[in-house]
Amino acid sequence: MSAKLEAIGLAKSYGETVALQPTDLTVQAGEFLTLLGPSGSGKTTLLQMISGLVAPTSGRIEIDGRDVTHVEPGRRGIGMVFQSYALFPHMSVWDNVAYGLRMRRKKPAEVRSAVDDALNMVRMSEYAQRFPKELSGGQQQRIALARCFAYRPSVILLDEPLGALDKKLREHMQSEIRRLHKELGATFVYVTHDQDEALTLSDRICLMNQARIEQVGTPVDLYDRPATRFAAGFIGHSNLLEGALADTRGPGGEAILLAAGGRVPLPQPVAAGAGATHCLLVRPEAPRLVEPKSGFVDGKISDIVFFGSDTRVQLTMLDGSRLTVRCARGQSASVGDTVGLVWDPHRTMLLRA
Ligand SMILES: Nc1ncnc2c1ncn2[C@@H]1O[C@H](COP(=O)(O)OP(=O)(O)OP(=O)(O)O)[C@@H](O)[C@H]1O
Ligand SMILES: [Mg+2]
Repeated sequence: MSAKLEAIGLAKSYGETVALQPTDLTVQAGEFLTLLGPSGSGKTTLLQMISGLVAPTSGRIEIDGRDVTHVEPGRRGIGMVFQSYALFPHMSVWDNVAYGLRMRRKKPAEVRSAVDDALNMVRMSEYAQRFPKELSGGQQQRIALARCFAYRPSVILLDEPLGALDKKLREHMQSEIRRLHKELGATFVYVTHDQDEALTLSDRICLMNQARIEQVGTPVDLYDRPATRFAAGFIGHSNLLEGALADTRGPGGEAILLAAGGRVPLPQPVAAGAGATHCLLVRPEAPRLVEPKSGFVDGKISDIVFFGSDTRVQLTMLDGSRLTVRCARGQSASVGDTVGLVWDPHRTMLLRA
């Protein structure tokens, strides 16, 4: 069961502090949407207004077209999972999971089958009689998930649920959460400030910055077509080449940016005349190393960092700016060499400020 979620002009202020500017966001039924953004960007505020724990200053929230702005949290059909698992220490795992169902006055037989199902789903059935302190962090987080899933909410809100786990366990739990999303079919809204987690998990990412939405799109959209410099900088590694338009064009008639000490072709025509400044995003995987003076720009290799499957080559360009290039292992250049770089201009992007 899943539901469509809509925020319409939703905003929150605490006195002078604007925690969320008026925001419109639609989450489709069954979708996995991630709120991604730096600390203080308004992710938790948005989530808590959806849940009903925080009242908006203005705007409204609809679930499947029904206005729930003034409906109390327990009656919205929404489940929540937080970073701190907040399990009851004096209750067994089984009773922790049953708690919400008992609160909702379900019949004992219904409670039993729902708890067993939920524990099964998070693969914790054999731990039913243990107490929270007898479980690892990852196991406790599974119980927190089971407790939320047990009453089958149609919308599930998760606020950095894996934030307290180490990297390896976090990656394992990420794939578990993906599986559980598919199994439950509920609408998930997930908060993280970890871009890798957002890219791995989400159908769509809602990137937030300074109390507003910066960009919404699929992980591929955000990586390949970031709309702003902030989006480009926040998702993936970015080389930002800034410069002025040259007054002459390239051999194919393309506009040229004078950047990184060279002549860089732009992927599209630009309106402003010579001298206007622009910013071009070049992902590290776009450039190829070539002989000096035979590419768009030249640079001196300052470092080569081994990354397992590939290497990151760091270059200091003729104008002193720095670029990172990802290369397959085994390329022959070494630290101190001067090399040229070329790339397909269509793999680069002009950015708004
Ligand atoms: N109860 C409150 N009283 C006053 N200001 C608040 C309150 N809750 C949040 N804020 C402010 O609102 C802004 C957004 O906070 P919010 O908790 O939504 O950020 P966040 O994106 O979840 O950050 P983090 O990644 O650190 O959890 C911040 O500037 C914060 O200080
Ligand atoms: Mg938060």
